[in-house]
Amino acid sequence: MKCVKEIDVKNKKVILRCDLNVPLKNNNIISDEKIIASLKTIKYLINQKAKIILMSHLGKIKSSDDLKTKSLLPIYNYLKKLLPDINIYFSAKTRGADLEALVKNLKETEIVLIENTRFEDLDNKKESNNDYELAKYWASLGDVFINDAFGLTHRKHSSNNRIKEFLPSGYGFLIEEELSKLDLLLKPNRPFTVLMGGAKVEDKSLLIKNILKECDFLLLGGGIANTFLAVNNEVGESLISFEYINEAKKLLLKYPNKIIMPTDVVVINNNFISIKEIKKLNNKDKILDLGPKSIELFKRYLEKSETVFINGTVGLYEDERFSFGTKSILEISSSINGQTILGGGDAVASSKYFNINNFYHLSTGGGATLEYIATKKLKCMESGNVNNS
Ligand code: 3PG
Repeated sequence: MKCVKEIDVKNKKVILRCDLNVPLKNNNIISDEKIIASLKTIKYLINQKAKIILMSHLGKIKSSDDLKTKSLLPIYNYLKKLLPDINIYFSAKTRGADLEALVKNLKETEIVLIENTRFEDLDNKKESNNDYELAKYWASLGDVFINDAFGLTHRKHSSNNRIKEFLPSGYGFLIEEELSKLDLLLKPNRPFTVLMGGAKVEDKSLLIKNILKECDFLLLGGGIANTFLAVNNEVGESLISFEYINEAKKLLLKYPNKIIMPTDVVVINNNFISIKEIKKLNNKDKILDLGPKSIELFKRYLEKSETVFINGTVGLYEDERFSFGTKSILEISSSINGQTILGGGDAVASSKYFNINNFYHLSTGGGATLEYIATKKLKCMESGNVNNS
């Protein structure tokens, strides 16, 4: 695939697939990094006098209730503020006559943002299943396809993968920059430490096995750590992934010196907050942050690492009572001699939240980067892959 700058997009109708999947609270954008990161390609296309058909997913659409909370409308309003001189339209429909009319009337430099591509998932998971007809339809709206949704490059969906079958296609500047920076993770200086936290246990659990083959140490925090801790300990009411406990047990036996887990944690129990050793947890405790001994333990590994990748956070950092672990890990990893990359919405948002920004790279891809480390590939970037979902 070619970069957008090597493709003739002048005056063309360009379908631009971005990852505008930003965290929202009551329809307010909590962290705008992915939107800002998408602007370089958008502005380039504007300069090229292209007509821009912008697409993105937002969250996961499992039932019609999700349609109310997962609209791209707040992102549309935000984009209008970021690009006040550009005419931007919103198509509330992901296909059909209204959308087609908006596209037909689009003038050079104008943008139409199409509603959340995953709204199509209500119909047989068409978008997420890389549906041929849906991709063909979307492709029929434009002349060229540019993928700049780095955060989704580990998935083959209709709007980022199958669509390439029908149009001259390339990638945008965000993907170009991410790939150049993430090269470090394919040839890491050693020791190479990965720290995984956050709550998306199911998504990440499948990758852990392969990541363990690539890294020297895997530090675990958040919901992932809880699942591994649950193999040999009481973890009370903490978030865990029950289906994964057996796999976690096998991995702990196979990599006893590589998997590093918390030794103490901050818990809440009947509204009472305390620091507890793992062995002393009871069935009403809920783990919400790392304890001080765990932070010291993780510090020793981070300080001796030459390359560090951090995905997710080790605690519920937006709540001051559970923010110390995440803040400490960011402070430590931003001041080590080695190079640290943060990847994914939560890790990057936490660094902004605490204003700790001294990192080699802040990546917009969490799952995508983990998969890149684990498999050395990004499914959506391989050539000749359009047919397999
Ligand atoms: C992300 O936030 O990691 C990307 O937007 C991909 O989202 P997904 O995990 O819902 O596919």
